[in-house]
Amino acid sequence: MSNKIQIFDTTLRDGEQVPGCQLKTEEKVIIAKELEALGVDVIEAGFPISSPGDFLSVVELSKAIKGVTICALTRSKKEDIDVAAEALHHAKRGRIHTGIGSSDVHIKHKFKSNREQVLEQGVWAVKYAKAKGYEVEFFAEDAGRADLAFLAQLTEAVIAAGADVVNIPDTTGYCLPNLYGKRIEYLFEHVSNIHKAVISVHCHNDLGLATANTIAGLMGGARQAEVTINGIGERAGNTSLEEVAMILQVHKDLGLYTDIKSERLYDISKLVAEMMRMPVQANKAIIGANAFAHSSGIHQDGFLKHAENYEIINPSDVGVPSSSIVLTARSGRAALKHRVELLGYKVEGEELNTLYENFLVLADEKKQLENDDLHYLVANTLVLAR
Ligand code: KIV
Ligand code: ZN
Repeated sequence: MSNKIQIFDTTLRDGEQVPGCQLKTEEKVIIAKELEALGVDVIEAGFPISSPGDFLSVVELSKAIKGVTICALTRSKKEDIDVAAEALHHAKRGRIHTGIGSSDVHIKHKFKSNREQVLEQGVWAVKYAKAKGYEVEFFAEDAGRADLAFLAQLTEAVIAAGADVVNIPDTTGYCLPNLYGKRIEYLFEHVSNIHKAVISVHCHNDLGLATANTIAGLMGGARQAEVTINGIGERAGNTSLEEVAMILQVHKDLGLYTDIKSERLYDISKLVAEMMRMPVQANKAIIGANAFAHSSGIHQDGFLKHAENYEIINPSDVGVPSSSIVLTARSGRAALKHRVELLGYKVEGEELNTLYENFLVLADEKKQLENDDLHYLVANTLVLAR
C-alpha cells in the first residue's frame, strides 16, 4: 500500500454549507486555484443539484482547475447523478461522490428503509455514476455509528459495483480515535476486495476529535483524508487540512506523507477566513494568531535560549513570518530585554531591573504592551534617561 495520503479538500462543499460562509462562483474559483497551488489532490466543488449557484461553481471549477480532480456531491438518486455528471463535463479529471446513510438510525429515521434496500440503492448509484465515465467515490454516511458487519458488507458491495474510493464518514463526530481507527482496520480485515479501492476518512468535530480520528483512520489503513481549511464545516466543523498536513510532517515516524506545500498554509487560511467571513480562533493549532506567540516568562526565556524548547514547528514551514514574544505582566526580564533590543536599545544589569519594574506596573494596567509602550518606558526610566 502506498504511503501517500490523498488530500480531498471539501472547504468549498462541506465548509461552504456553513451559514454565512456562502461564496460566489468567482470567489470559489480564487480559493480553488490556491488549493491547487497548495497541493491538494481532490477539490469537492459543490453539490450541483442543490442550487443553480452550486451547479455553476462545479462547471466553472471544472473549466479553471486542471491539475486536481474536481468532485461533485450527489445523493444516491438518478437526478442528482445526472446533474453532477453534466456539471463535471469540462473537468479534466472528474469524480462523482455519491452515497447513502449506513447507520441504523439513518436507515430507520431518515430513509424509513432497511439495510437490504439501502445496500441495493448504494450499489445501483455507484453503477449508475460509473457509467457516466467519471471516478466514483461512495460515502457510507454516518459510518461512525453503523453496524460494523453491515458497513463491511456495504463496502464490499460498492467496491464490487465499481467504486474507486469508499468514504467512511464519522458524520456526527461521535467516534473515539481508537475505535474509529479500529473501524477502518476491521474493514481491511473483513472486506475481501478492499485493496481495489482507496479508503477515505471524513470526520466531524462535534467532540473536538476530528483530527485525532482522521489520523487514527490513516494509521488504520485509509489513504485519503477529507479536510477543510481552518476546519470549517457543518456544526463544529470538519477535520482541518493544516492540522493533518503538519501532523504527518512532524510525525515522520508514521511513514505517511502528503503533497501539501506547507509554507502556503498561513496565506490560504487567511484568504478562506476573509472570503468566508469566518475568523480563525487565536489559539487554533498551526495557523491561529497565538500558535507561535510566547507570553509567559518561563516559556519566553526557554524559547529565547533555544526555539525548540517550546516550538515543534518552525513558523516559516507553515508560512508564518516569525514567532513572537508577547509582553504581558506574566513576561520576564529576558523577554523584555529581547523586545527592547529589537528596538535598538541596549539594557543590562540595574538598568534592566528598573525598566522591568516600570514595565510590570504598566503591563498590569494595559494587559499587553506594544512597541510604542516600550519606547515610552525606556524614555521614562530614570537610569536610562540620564
Ligand atoms: O459528513 C458526511 O457524512 C458528509 C457526506 C456527505 C460525505 O459530508
Ligand atoms: Zn461531512
